[in-house]
Amino acid sequence: MENTFPKDFVFGTATAAYQIEGAVNEDGRCPSIWDTFSHTPGATFAGDTGDVATDSYHRWREDLALLNDLGVDAYRFSIAMPRIMPTPNGIPNAKGLDFYERIVDTLLEYGIKPVVTLYHWDLPQYLEDAGGWLNRVTSYALGDYAAVVAKRLGDRVDTWTTLNEPWCASYLSYGAKEQAPGLGLGPGAFPAVHHLNLAHGLMVQAVRGIVGDKSKYSVTLNMPFNRGDADACHRLDLIANRAFLDPMLRGRYPDELFAITKGICDWSFIQPGDLENAHQPIDLLGVHYYSTNRVAMSDRPQFPQETGPSTCPGASDIDWLPTDGPHTDMGWNIDPQGLYDTLMRVHDRYPEVDLVITENGMACRDQLVVNEDGTKAVHDADRIDYLERHFAAAKRALDDGVPLSGYFVWSLLDNFEWYFGYAKRFGITYVDYATQERTKKDSFLWYRDFIASRG
Ligand code: FCB
Repeated sequence: MENTFPKDFVFGTATAAYQIEGAVNEDGRCPSIWDTFSHTPGATFAGDTGDVATDSYHRWREDLALLNDLGVDAYRFSIAMPRIMPTPNGIPNAKGLDFYERIVDTLLEYGIKPVVTLYHWDLPQYLEDAGGWLNRVTSYALGDYAAVVAKRLGDRVDTWTTLNEPWCASYLSYGAKEQAPGLGLGPGAFPAVHHLNLAHGLMVQAVRGIVGDKSKYSVTLNMPFNRGDADACHRLDLIANRAFLDPMLRGRYPDELFAITKGICDWSFIQPGDLENAHQPIDLLGVHYYSTNRVAMSDRPQFPQETGPSTCPGASDIDWLPTDGPHTDMGWNIDPQGLYDTLMRVHDRYPEVDLVITENGMACRDQLVVNEDGTKAVHDADRIDYLERHFAAAKRALDDGVPLSGYFVWSLLDNFEWYFGYAKRFGITYVDYATQERTKKDSFLWYRDFIASRG
């Protein structure tokens, strides 16, 4: 595939701390909600945990060398709050800061821009014990933590991303039981939605107060693009997308969101000043895109009944219909046009902010092949095809006027895929979990050549 993206387009890959680091008991790190959740019997596939993951806390040099071989412009990784603020006393852990400083400095030596996610779901357990995202104190704790990180790394980080997928961090985690802490509270997740929005704004303010406008600011969301019944799509758009984007980018919640949640949520947890705090100028909006949903209004009994693990509270009167194939190993449909449509729609609604694809990729049943000469390979032609078609869709959106500045492939490495543990492989690098040996898949080599052929 010819690479016709502009010269300054940012190509990258992404990872997240709990999915790769391991070393959960080292150098003063405290437990996070994901340690607790993954150690709860039955909570994850095969009882997998992130205790070791890809051991990147120890193998970070090797992993960053892979990035250098790949030739990316930027690397999106997350900082683990449990390594930085391991106790409620507010005293930062120097060893945690040192670890991320080594990563940032090595990236800069390679000429790779550090794109830091401050919160990719690994909330310290002590904050959860005090109510977690249901308690507004958590939002302020995140702001304080962001300031600590900014003081140490602020002069070297290219882009600060406050939150990763607040939809998952609230609805899937507090509304349903699919992700940590897995409380299954249904509409009880709405306070978490609001406190995440507040935390976003407090983090932007905290970092900007130290770094000013030398860095870029962003937040990154999965914005489920739905096909099907217009009412169901509209309702899900309010709950899944606008419940976050409107407060963050416009300083208000949509009136219709209040209307459709009447009787199940009174929104009294919104305090004076919260929306002003949540609404901070940002430079980039990160879009995660993997697949699309097909939905219809349901004729089943309505809320507050819980209908399944992926149900959004307030959306339980929506049916999730089977999608047309082909599907990935996650069971997600492959729909590159959905990426184009998502980018166009988001830009149309929020034209004031530039877009970047902060996650896109595919889980495959990868097979490690040992060649006659002893070298190893993974022939993941399906992943290459997926990436080619999604890059083409992104380029079309760019040509059609979307201010799209970058694309981060999920993920640099196979890793701990949350509920699915090690059963799903998204990496462009294969990880043999028994030995931690890394093998570049064909998609890695394809992406390397694609980046190099730009312009
Ligand atoms: C996203 C997460 C990321 C990864 C991909 C497959 O929801 O942000 O950590 O698990 O899905």
